[in-house]
Amino acid sequence: MARDHIRFLLNDREVTLRDLGATDTLLDHLRLDQRLRGTKEGCAEGDCGACTVLVGRLEAGAVRYQPVNACIRFLASCDGCMSSRWNICAARMADYTRCSAPW
Ligand code: FES
Repeated sequence: MARDHIRFLLNDREVTLRDLGATDTLLDHLRLDQRLRGTKEGCAEGDCGACTVLVGRLEAGAVRYQPVNACIRFLASCDGCMSSRWNICAARMADYTRCSAPW
């Protein structure tokens, strides 16, 4: 059965989105819709890493976080993902281990 929405956790809050565009990006959603401006846009082509955020998925009963370039990550692909403090993690990617610790 097809769904007309996606859901994910953002900063411990469930977000439900409808009417997504096929090319809507995670970066635009974070910065423009959620106003999480700590996530920066640099090249907007997936090369510089300025927009890097952590996205977690359940794998074998545990959340596994991976860094992704939010500028080229389609928002629709975030269905079922989870993350806390994307904004904070984006600002602290140099300290990846601290960001990947469970909150
Ligand atoms: S803005 Fe450069 S990789 Fe996303």
